Amino acid sequence: MTTQPDSSLSLATIRAHLKTRTIGATLSVQNEVDSTNHLLADLARADTAHGTVVVAESQTAGRGRLGRSWVSPRGLNLYASILLARVQASSAITWVPLLAAIATVRTCKALTGLSLQIKWPNDVLVYRDGEGRKLAGILVEAINGGRAGAKAVVAGIGINVNMPPEAFPEELRSSATSLLIETGHPIERAPLLAALLGEVECLYDTLCEQGPGAIANAYRSLCGTLGRQVRVELVGSGQVEGTAEAIAPDGALRLRTPEGKILEIRAGDVVHLR
Ligand code: BTN
Repeated sequence: MTTQPDSSLSLATIRAHLKTRTIGATLSVQNEVDSTNHLLADLARADTAHGTVVVAESQTAGRGRLGRSWVSPRGLNLYASILLARVQASSAITWVPLLAAIATVRTCKALTGLSLQIKWPNDVLVYRDGEGRKLAGILVEAINGGRAGAKAVVAGIGINVNMPPEAFPEELRSSATSLLIETGHPIERAPLLAALLGEVECLYDTLCEQGPGAIANAYRSLCGTLGRQVRVELVGSGQVEGTAEAIAPDGALRLRTPEGKILEIRAGDVVHLR
C-alpha cells in the first residue's frame, strides 16, 4: 500500500476542480475546527448564503449520528459541511440525509470503482469478503434561526480517504475502512470534494424542483439494507428485529417484525444480520 499523503486542501486546488453553480460559491477551508457542522451552523445563523461550504483539515470535536463522535485526524480525510437552504417543501427535508449518502456513494464509486452500498439511513459501506465496513458517515442538522429558518439544514459529510489502518482507534479497525485501505493508493481530496459537491448540487436541485420521487428511486437502488434481516437499536428505547421491507415516502425504514407488524423507524442504528 502506498501511503504517501496527498497535498493539503486549499481554496485554489478545490476551485480548480469545482464545476458547481451555487454549492461551494462561498467556500471556507479551515486548518482546524471543533466541527465543520458547528461552524457552518453559526455562519448560517449570521445569514451566509445557500450552498456555503466549510471544509477542514482536522476536527477536534467531530460530531457523528446519535450523539457519537467522528474521528477526524489532520490531513487524511474529508470533513465537509454544506448549507442547503433553498426554499423546499417540508416533505422534502427528510430526504436530505439520504440524498447526501447517494452523492457520497456516486462520487466514491466514480473515482475508485469500489462496490459501495448505503446502510439505512446514511452510512456508506464498502463490501469486501461479505463484510460491510464503514467508509463514510453523514450528519444532517437543522438550523434554528437565520433567514431560511427551519428549512435550512447543514449536511455534514465525513469520508475516510487516506486513513491507514493504524490511524483508526483499535475498536474501529474491524468495522471501519478508508479509500486508501480499499484501493491500496492515496486519493487526492480536492477533486473528490469538488465531485461530491457537484453530486450534492444536482441531487438537491432535483429534490427542490421535482420532489422526492427521483431521489427515492436512486436511494432504493443503492440501499443494501432493503430485503435484509436487521436489528434496529432505537434511540433510548431498546431494539427491534425484523425484515427491512421498504423505504416510506418520508425516507423512514419500514420493518416487518416476526409477528407481521409493520414499524416505521425514523431514528436508530441498523445492524445487518444476514
Ligand atoms: C456518522 O455518525 O456516521 C456521521 C458522521 C458525520 C461526520 C461529518 S465530518 C464533517 C461534519 N462535521 C461534523 O462534526 N460531523 C460531520
